[in-house]
Amino acid sequence: MYHKISNQLCQCGTPFYCYDLSLLRSTLGAINLEIEGYPFVVHYALKANANPVILREIVNAGVGADLVSGNEIMAAIEAGFDPNKMAYAGVGKTDWEIETGIDKDIYCFNVESVPEMEVINEIAARKGKTMGIAIRVNPNIDAHTHRYITTGTNEDKFGIDIPMLDEVVEKAMNLSNIHLRGLHFHIGSQITSLEPYKMLCEKVNKLVDHYEKNGVNFEMIDVGGGLGIDYEKPEENPIAPFHDFFAVFKNGLKLREGQKVHFELGRSIVAQCGALISRVVFVKENSVKKFVILDAGMTDLLRPALYDAHHKIVNLTSQESDMETYDVVGPICESSDVFACDEQLPITRRGDLIAILSAGAYGESMASSYNMRNLPGSQFVG
Ligand code: LLP
Repeated sequence: MYHKISNQLCQCGTPFYCYDLSLLRSTLGAINLEIEGYPFVVHYALKANANPVILREIVNAGVGADLVSGNEIMAAIEAGFDPNKMAYAGVGKTDWEIETGIDKDIYCFNVESVPEMEVINEIAARKGKTMGIAIRVNPNIDAHTHRYITTGTNEDKFGIDIPMLDEVVEKAMNLSNIHLRGLHFHIGSQITSLEPYKMLCEKVNKLVDHYEKNGVNFEMIDVGGGLGIDYEKPEENPIAPFHDFFAVFKNGLKLREGQKVHFELGRSIVAQCGALISRVVFVKENSVKKFVILDAGMTDLLRPALYDAHHKIVNLTSQESDMETYDVVGPICESSDVFACDEQLPITRRGDLIAILSAGAYGESMASSYNMRNLPGSQFVG
């Protein structure tokens, strides 16, 4: 995609995010192909990227929305997502956010605690409505990903433990302004092995059997998101392994008549279509290292500083065939403002354009104005 980035595109000033909309469309097409004919509903997790142009493409593909704040509900409505395909998760929904979800008639609140369930019931009653909910279950599965993005073990704040679930399900059945639609799970993010998802299917089957025996039938099961992408070889694997991912659920879940499976994919939809484009401000040398200093920093793309994530870096300008080893860093006054250590790049000079790839997910959406910097802009190709 970065081959499509011209100097003209850069006239608006660096750093900015460049999105390849044709890759985004192909990704959405690949998902729709896999789910066709199955009772599967895919939601897009807006937290990965809520750029309105990106959202418009996703709406056009018929995908639903997975939301984590009142402002995300409003952004999803604005972008044209169908409220009937909106799920709203989060451990700390405020009253205003709950009211917004109720006023917009969203399909489902993914409820994470009993107090939250009671407040939804109370506000819905006040508004004369009955709201769909799913109970977020903590399945205690370790997704073997970074500790900051593991969500499904008992050590995490998310969801309701299985030993407490009977009580919570019973409570949900007895609240008059709540309609229990099903169970919700999400075990983590950037998951690159399918094993945790197979384990999840087993847990889901057991729970669905258990509740069926007790007279509780679920219209849906939400298995969350988390499918990982290839950060090291994005050009070779621009589209996530959707075939294998959906096959796990096609083969692993024992669905009941009419039961639907919901998915909440974020990263795997948008990561590869975005690159952060920046310019080299200086190349600096000390007694042990050479540094490429960019005009983009951790305020534009936080993932390397926060998770030690590595994104592939490409010099778009240099025609040199000789390679050199550099630390690629940003201008922010923080030692963690480093994109990569000991990165091999062709000889790099002041003014060169640099692309940091696979940055479409959790890039622009996590940008901040620390050091009073401007937020990065966006450009579109394809
Ligand atoms: N559903 C729930 C309940 C979630 O918490 C998340 C992500 C998703 C779906 C979407 O997960 P995905 O398919 O994108 O993995 N900032 C981190 C990732 C945080 C993920 C938070 N939850 C990063 O840059 O790696």
